[in-house]
Amino acid sequence: MKRIVIFASGSGSNAENIVRYFSDSNAIEISLILSNRKDAFVHERAKKLGIPSYTFNKGEFEEAGLILETLKQYKIDFIVLAGFLLKVSQPILDAFPNRIINIHPALLPKFGGKGMYGDKVHQAVIDTGEKESGISIHYVNEHYDEGDVIFQAACEVLPDDSVNDVAQKVHQLEYKYFPEVIEKVVLNK
Ligand code: GRF
Repeated sequence: MKRIVIFASGSGSNAENIVRYFSDSNAIEISLILSNRKDAFVHERAKKLGIPSYTFNKGEFEEAGLILETLKQYKIDFIVLAGFLLKVSQPILDAFPNRIINIHPALLPKFGGKGMYGDKVHQAVIDTGEKESGISIHYVNEHYDEGDVIFQAACEVLPDDSVNDVAQKVHQLEYKYFPEVIEKVVLNK
């Protein structure tokens, strides 16, 4: 059984979707959810889904000792970032080489990097007059959104699309593809 931890900073709709996808898997288990925000709605979702979730602050994520101890306690094999806004610190990268993946709500390398998250990404896509947007699932390295891209999927952006219109189309791609890509990557390891 491969055991996965999800790092999430916000609502956690991707985290919930991933937990549900693997709920009857005999190969992959979502064992734990960690957040850097104690008020993140992802904790409510975890509670409802019966998944343990904990909050660690920015300093604890950077120092990583407590985090790595917790991941060891839960026998974690793989880390999935789903709306996690902190950079993953070097000790965690070192402990999980090629075993940390992230989803970004745009077609990298465009519209990525520090500060590019959530609606800011979709606003930038609209402001630039892009005809399409989408998702990028990639390995995580020491820079924001710069690891090797594993998978991308695109959606149309219409001239009169609002930020929310784009966000909804991107979320649909996330919910459709992220669990499948996680499954392929984790089971090939
Ligand atoms: C998603 O759009 C994801 O692509 C990005 O952050 C958002 C998280 O949304 N990394 P949620 O917390 O999973 O609802």
